[in-house]
Amino acid sequence: MSSSTPASGLDAASADALVQQALAVQQHAYAPASHFHVGAAVRTRDGRVFAGCNVENASYGLTICAERAAVCAAVAAGARELVAVAIATNLEQPGRPCGACRQVLAEFGLDMQVLLVGRGGVLQQTTLAALLPDPFTFADVRRGQRDPG
Ligand code: THU
Repeated sequence: MSSSTPASGLDAASADALVQQALAVQQHAYAPASHFHVGAAVRTRDGRVFAGCNVENASYGLTICAERAAVCAAVAAGARELVAVAIATNLEQPGRPCGACRQVLAEFGLDMQVLLVGRGGVLQQTTLAALLPDPFTFADVRRGQRDPG
């Protein structure tokens, strides 16, 4: 991404840095089954960046997606508010996060910016709100606790 690319709510330099982190960690993806290498980097409200890659397993269902690995790294470091995520794949057109990752990202930033990076640095920007409208949240859980039926 060129440094002049606007990224609403996220300055261009921070967006560039996030993309670079996602591309760097993508190199560590462990994907012997799919050969689909994904890197993700999340930015916290206080400006820290945490990265994760997909980690596959011979027991396929145990695979961990890159986005969730990045979120877990951030939470393990004490972060609770995520403002942006960059996701790098080798697709010509950037790939989108799977449904499970959208839900996990939503836990820590309903308003986060989503930067999608494809082969050749193709980039699209969207928001988690656009990718996951009307998410399930702990507000729903609490409503259920108040009114268990
Ligand atoms: N994958 C991710 O890392 N993130 C996503 O949002 C979608 C899928 C990984 C999981 C698996 O290792 C490979 O991509 C193919 O599904």
